[in-house]
Amino acid sequence: MKTAKKFFCLEGIDGCGKSTQLKRLAEFLIGKGFDVLTIREPGGSEISENIRKLLLDIRYKGVMDSRTELLLYNAARAQVIAEKIAPALEQGKIVLADRFAWSTLAYQGYGRQIDPQMVLELSKITCGNYNPDLTIVLDVSLEESRRRQAGDNRVADRLESEAVSFFERVRNGYLKIANEFSDCVSLVDANGDPDTIQDQIRQLILQKLV
Ligand code: TYD
Repeated sequence: MKTAKKFFCLEGIDGCGKSTQLKRLAEFLIGKGFDVLTIREPGGSEISENIRKLLLDIRYKGVMDSRTELLLYNAARAQVIAEKIAPALEQGKIVLADRFAWSTLAYQGYGRQIDPQMVLELSKITCGNYNPDLTIVLDVSLEESRRRQAGDNRVADRLESEAVSFFERVRNGYLKIANEFSDCVSLVDANGDPDTIQDQIRQLILQKLV
């Protein structure tokens, strides 16, 4: 088994296709002989999955305060780092995360309009030195994201049921993040063909593995 000790993350608005792309990326890296841990956020450990249920529960729409939301996403993250991410990296695994701290800056910072500097400060407390070596933001138009979500026949959760204006702020937030933190965040146009998008993701990841 090859060791790599690398941490990668896929990000983007709901319906950008990152979960499917992450699964394919994991299969590709396992095929290359790497030991891979895949996690999704919020979630990935028992405590974090319980926090996820609270966060996404549609009954708390209009009830959960934005600061509660911010802190719960961070709490879920602190736990999955301690229980899963830190040990996996210690063992030389590649960690692939479906969302991580940039989600909090995009959704709670830009989407909910909580001061981005405060969100970043809190992320420092939560993540310490555990930050992705590379984050890939899959950028889709709001129309494309809506079209994909309409196709998956699920009842929308609390976040998914937000207004279009919220997702516009989140998407623009991701564009700002990719621009401002270009040393560790790359943007991929995810409106087109899934195979082409996967190829671009693989190329970006392989550059970090040499
Ligand atoms: P998830 O159900 O995994 O959504 P998707 O499969 O569309 O990525 O993520 C849960 C929701 O939580 C999603 O709408 C994005 C949101 N979220 C935040 O608002 N802040 C965060 O820090 C994270 C990790 C997710």
